[in-house]
Amino acid sequence: MQNSYIESLHVKNVRQFSELNVKFNKGFNFIAGPNGCGKTSILACISHCFNYNNILYSRIGEGAEFWTDLTSKDEKLRFGFGTGTFEVKGYRNTSLKSWNHAPSDEGRKTILSHDVSNSAEIFCPLFLGANRSIKYKQISGMQREQTRDQTLNAYSNSSTQQLHGDHQQDIKQWFVNRYFMIDKPWAIEERINWEHMVNSLPKIGPFDSDFSYIRTGKDLEPIFSIYGEECYLEELSSGFQAVLSIIANIFEWVEGSRPDGDRKVTEASGTVLIDELDLHLHPEWQFTLRNGLEKIFPNIQFIVTTHSPHLLASAQQGEVIVMPKTYGREIYNLEPSSKMYSGWNTDQILSEVMGVRSLDNKQYEQLVSKAFECVENGLVLELETAIDNLLLVAHPSDTIVMVLQAKLAAMVATKND
Ligand SMILES: Nc1ncnc2c1ncn2[C@@H]1O[C@H](COP(=O)(O)OP(=O)(O)OP(=O)(O)O)[C@@H](O)[C@H]1O
Ligand SMILES: [Mg+2]
Repeated sequence: MQNSYIESLHVKNVRQFSELNVKFNKGFNFIAGPNGCGKTSILACISHCFNYNNILYSRIGEGAEFWTDLTSKDEKLRFGFGTGTFEVKGYRNTSLKSWNHAPSDEGRKTILSHDVSNSAEIFCPLFLGANRSIKYKQISGMQREQTRDQTLNAYSNSSTQQLHGDHQQDIKQWFVNRYFMIDKPWAIEERINWEHMVNSLPKIGPFDSDFSYIRTGKDLEPIFSIYGEECYLEELSSGFQAVLSIIANIFEWVEGSRPDGDRKVTEASGTVLIDELDLHLHPEWQFTLRNGLEKIFPNIQFIVTTHSPHLLASAQQGEVIVMPKTYGREIYNLEPSSKMYSGWNTDQILSEVMGVRSLDNKQYEQLVSKAFECVENGLVLELETAIDNLLLVAHPSDTIVMVLQAKLAAMVATKND
């Protein structure tokens, strides 16, 4: 059961937001909207609530304030900073003026995130930026894993960097460490997690791909298999690298950020925030990824941004947050839409949910409206030409073309009577 998750974010005068309030649900949250509307900025603002060190990544306005309300092990908390905390001197030049608490809220404890290790101990979300390619690195052996305190500090300090591609977690070392430790009697939770990961990979891969971990050789190079062919970690195609790095990062985070006895991935709750989840993925995989992640990480909250109508079509009810097209000096109040888009087709999601305006101008749409004009005006020859043109661009089993063909047949029959 999810007993640790982010409930909402409040921001004033940070980045382009004069005021932003977003509510999240406990499970999946897909933030969609056009380029530049502020999706990545929402994730960055959340990261600032847990650690002020990276505030230089955001332009701060006078009177800036931001906090995140969350539940941590059933306790209601508010993390962040009240107005007057920061002094703005110029671009990338913001300093701390005084430690000001976020305002209190009944039944909720307010936490000033100035003691980073202390706040990460209470709640440590994982941020994954849009850069997911795995660069080659030679591993020379097992590396002693960091203590929990060091790990928490590292996650907290690198959260905004992760989002902006300035920091990446080392998943290859994690794989090699597992190879050395997995059969040791003390590696109880690591073994359970490892087996869960190895069993899950073939299930999350696209149909027929049989994505699997095979072995790690004497040269300490982990080997995988896709479509029946073995390949090294860095040889995996971008899509497989993207999904593998998300999954391995989450395993590493669960194991590193929790105390012993609390590190089983299937039971872990907490929040993972991913920028552009659909990156590099074929539409089929975009469509199945949500359920795949939910199976591997059943209790984890995901807050992800996306440009993919397929990912949105896979969302359950109350999981899609649509950001408006225009922005400026206005107040944003966003929350997951109560709608479910599984029955919508891609065009409908693109135009009505994601605000894509140019669909009406597509050649197909123009030809269809021209054909219907011919029907209305009884122009048989012109309708025939319009249908021929449509057949060149339409799907072979397009129902509108079939309707037009039936209308043409009826018009020809009437004319011949
Ligand atoms: N560090 C920053 N400080 C101030 N404003 C910023 C900063 N970064 C981005 N912005 C503003 O926020 C706007 C939205 O940027 P953001 O990266 O959040 O968009 P996005 O929705 O993630 O777009 P995309 O889909 O292209 O990734 C930018 O156009 C810019 O005006
Ligand atoms: Mg972005």
